[in-house]
Amino acid sequence: MYARSSKVLTIAAFTWAAFILLVGSGLAQSTSSNDTGTEAKAALQNQQPTVDTSKYIGSESCKKCHEFLFKGFERTKHFQLVSDTRRGQAFQGCEGCHGPGRAHVESGGDPQKIRSFKNILTDAKKTSQWCLNCHQYESEHNNFARSPHMSANVGCLDCHSVHHANVAVHLLSSEQPQLCIHCHKNVSSEFDRPFRHPVNEHLISCTDCHNQHGGSNAHMLRSAAGQAEICTKCHTAMAGPFAFEHSPIKLEGCISCHVPHGSSNPRLLTRPEVNQLCLECHTFTTNSIVKAPPSFHNQLQQYQACTMCHVQVHGSHSDRYFFR
Ligand code: HEC
Ligand code: HEC
Ligand code: HEC
Ligand code: HEC
Ligand code: HEC
Ligand code: HEC
Ligand code: HEC
Ligand code: HEC
Ligand code: HEC
Ligand code: HEC
Repeated sequence: MYARSSKVLTIAAFTWAAFILLVGSGLAQSTSSNDTGTEAKAALQNQQPTVDTSKYIGSESCKKCHEFLFKGFERTKHFQLVSDTRRGQAFQGCEGCHGPGRAHVESGGDPQKIRSFKNILTDAKKTSQWCLNCHQYESEHNNFARSPHMSANVGCLDCHSVHHANVAVHLLSSEQPQLCIHCHKNVSSEFDRPFRHPVNEHLISCTDCHNQHGGSNAHMLRSAAGQAEICTKCHTAMAGPFAFEHSPIKLEGCISCHVPHGSSNPRLLTRPEVNQLCLECHTFTTNSIVKAPPSFHNQLQQYQACTMCHVQVHGSHSDRYFFR
């Protein structure tokens, strides 16, 4: 399994776009008759090792010596692994993560005789692979192995703690946004600007817009930034469709005019002044495909905001010039 996923990673490193194409078009399947395909199949079969059940002993026996830790574990969602027998002992209880425990127990607790995360904590790929044994099948996490986080050696245990979580919900090592800005200091300063999405105020979180577990969109966004969905799931009024669309919204998305994090403009515009923003596209240069404002605008523009008259700048049901 591990060999197979590192092959996937190599392909992704060469060309990410081609990889998506390959999988998306089903080409990946049609190669299954050549060498690569047979190899992959064999690797998949090897993935199901015959479990030597005599090496397992069950979670109850851990309780005796690790009582404090066990009590904490009982309050987490992972505790359901203790009674879930569906996938066999290799996926059950404490041993689902720590591997077979009989030798450890019978030796009176020899730390060498149990799978410990201690020795591999700095290798996020290895630790995360253990978690992904179970979690890779959820759509939220199935792209983690090729996410920018994993590529930068940021793994599950940089954000989650199985036994010592400071935030009980989702076993987080700290709350958002602190969890994220602890590493993303430059982003933190964007949320210190005078006008920003209320992330520090806990009204929305980084993960409303980003999937920290990865995905196929740039910047790990939950939908492609060029589309408006990432914003219109909350700002429903701008979703349209309108009889008269302002085409940059459909073509380049909301971030052609707005910054997502924070801005010095109260409407989170990319420019301090609204006229500056409009005139960047609606220029008077002759080769522009975007229409320049009619000449009578010239005297007015320095006194009046364009949006004084063009009120419905996100689209209108009744007026092609976006008047009310
Ligand atoms: C979901 C995976 C998972 C399960 C299930 C799990 N552990 Fe752990 N365990 C870890 C990880 C990861 C670490 C090390 C990193 C850390 O502290 O988060 C760890 C660390 C430990 C340690 C080292 C000391 C410590 O406090 O960190 C002990 C002892 C331990 N686990 C015992 C158990 C016992 C007993 C159970 C069952 C009640 C259990 N674990 C269930 C993942 C798991
Ligand atoms: C007879 C007592 C005993 C039992 C039963 C026991 N342990 Fe331990 N365990 C210990 C001792 C002692 C240590 C070493 C403690 C230390 O280093 O602080 C230890 C350490 C560990 C560690 C950490 C290893 C390391 O290198 O940090 C893990 C993980 C662990 N035990 C898991 C388990 C699991 C899972 C079970 C049940 C299958 C279990 N233990 C049952 C006594 C026990
Ligand atoms: C043996 C299978 C298995 C392994 C291995 C495993 N998990 Fe889980 N995990 C589960 C199950 C089952 C749940 C509960 C799912 C649910 O209730 O929706 C869960 C839930 C979680 C949750 C959500 C908890 C919550 O309160 O919402 C987190 C976070 C998590 N696991 C992290 C990890 C991490 C980190 C690792 C690796 C150290 C790991 N898991 C390894 C099976 C596993
Ligand atoms: C960059 C930080 C980060 C990393 C790395 C990370 N997580 Fe998470 N994870 C989070 C946050 C934050 C949440 C809670 C999101 C929320 O509140 O909606 C979460 C939620 C979860 C949940 C519960 C909700 C859900 O999405 O199903 C599970 C399970 C989970 N993570 C597992 C994992 C596993 C397994 C890994 C490694 C393969 C991992 N996470 C890596 C930050 C992270
Ligand atoms: C309202 C949605 C939204 C929220 C909330 C949000 N982001 Fe973003 N973020 C975006 C969008 C959209 C982009 C892409 C911007 C672009 O392409 O110009 C982005 C880009 C990024 C980038 C890459 C570019 C850069 O600035 O370095 C990082 C890292 C990032 N966000 C982290 C975070 C963190 C950390 C938080 C929480 C503190 C957060 N984001 C909250 C929407 C959001
Ligand atoms: C342990 C440090 C660490 C933590 C914690 C962390 N990140 Fe990251 N993150 C990184 C690194 C390193 C990268 C890859 C390098 C980069 O793009 O900055 C990255 C990349 C990203 C990117 C992609 C940036 C791009 O330009 O494509 C986003 C988005 C992001 N992180 C969001 C988050 C969010 C949201 C959280 C909190 C849930 C979080 N990160 C927590 C270290 C971290
Ligand atoms: C999870 C919900 C959510 C998402 C997703 C979201 N926003 Fe927001 N947005 C808010 C909230 C809450 C406010 C603050 C409203 C307030 O202060 O009255 C806000 C404020 C704003 C404002 C300033 C509004 C004002 O009245 O001045 C703009 C502009 C904005 N968002 C644009 C965007 C854009 C662009 C995106 C996509 C990149 C986006 N939002 C995604 C919830 C969201
Ligand atoms: C062509 C540039 C442009 C695009 C593209 C754009 N906006 Fe705006 N938006 C503006 C301007 C200009 C204002 C300020 C209007 C004013 O001051 O009257 C604004 C104001 C807002 C406001 C706050 C005021 C209000 O009307 O409620 C929100 C929220 C908002 N936009 C969300 C979005 C969303 C969501 C998208 C994507 C669907 C988007 N915008 C795309 C230019 C744009
Ligand atoms: C990212 C580039 C961009 C920005 C910024 C922008 N526009 Fe546009 N706008 C366009 C494009 C493209 C069209 C459609 C092509 C055309 O008709 O010129 C358009 C169309 C229009 C139209 C309708 C023209 C017609 O003849 O149907 C008006 C009015 C308009 N924009 C006003 C504004 C105002 C006011 C602002 C500032 C709030 C603004 N635009 C910002 C690109 C932009
Ligand atoms: C005082 C009100 C007012 C203000 C302020 C204003 N406009 Fe206009 N705009 C109009 C009128 C009226 C029309 C013409 C409608 C028609 O031809 O029927 C127009 C038309 C346009 C057109 C369409 C041109 C075409 O050839 O179809 C664009 C683009 C435009 N304005 C952009 C702007 C920009 C950019 C600003 C800010 C610099 C701005 N407007 C400020 C009233 C205004």
